[in-house]
Amino acid sequence: MMLLKTALEAKKQVQKDKKAGFRIGLVPTMGALHQGHISLVQASKEQCDRTYVSIFVNPAQFNDKKDLDAYPVDLESDLKLLEAHGVDAVFIPTVEDIYPEDHPFPKIDLNGLDKILEGEMRPGHFDGVAKVVYRFFEIMTPDVAFFGQKDFQQTVVIRHMTDLFNLPTEIVICPTLREPSGLAMSSRNIRLSEYDRSRAGFLYKTLLKLKEDINYIALEEAVGKAKNYLRNLPGVKIEYFAPVNGRNMEIVHDLSQDYIVCVAVIQFGGIRMLDNIVLKK
Ligand code: PAF
Repeated sequence: MMLLKTALEAKKQVQKDKKAGFRIGLVPTMGALHQGHISLVQASKEQCDRTYVSIFVNPAQFNDKKDLDAYPVDLESDLKLLEAHGVDAVFIPTVEDIYPEDHPFPKIDLNGLDKILEGEMRPGHFDGVAKVVYRFFEIMTPDVAFFGQKDFQQTVVIRHMTDLFNLPTEIVICPTLREPSGLAMSSRNIRLSEYDRSRAGFLYKTLLKLKEDINYIALEEAVGKAKNYLRNLPGVKIEYFAPVNGRNMEIVHDLSQDYIVCVAVIQFGGIRMLDNIVLKK
């Protein structure tokens, strides 16, 4: 497995692979890798000839300095895991490499996606995500890039950004991987106590129940029921729980649109838990 430590090295290696006719897959990550990331690697290995993984804790997407400082980092075990899963190259840039002084970044208009739901809770977050992904695509020009469905709004933001600049990279969204309790895998889960972690599957179970309920009762009623249930659980605070149009994140009130996802974020056991379920597609 190759280690690429500068943008120039990464760019050159990709160019070499492209010249050889290889289809390039990129899995952008912030490290602290888990099986969810590995499922993205596996998808890339199935669909591409070369799989690159980037590891970069992107300061621009942390609106809370404490969250950035507390973000788990374990490069050694990440590299072992990636090597064991047959990754071809890992790009581990520095902040200076990703954000060189005087680098001409275009203005990325997120068309309001950065202001609603997760964007409203974390001002500046999606600007930082769009900027870093733009920069990775600029350096590596992957044919395909893989992202997890868990961060649903992020996938909508990234698709919007690639459409905005007409970038040639195909965006593939892979299903959320879950712990045995049903809890969506996340690098932040290690901050939960063992006890909280074992029962944290209630969020996904609530989403599953919602999906069942909309067969019998109106969407708004079913959402109200789900929120009441969560609100009454000890230690749970809902940040948002909303059915949205899966293409533009606009809140929907009934099932008349063709693509509907319920996105949810709660605070539990001292961490923010994100999850979502496709209600209709
Ligand atoms: O989902 C993540 O880990 C990050 O937001 C990403 C896409 C790697 C950008 O830093």
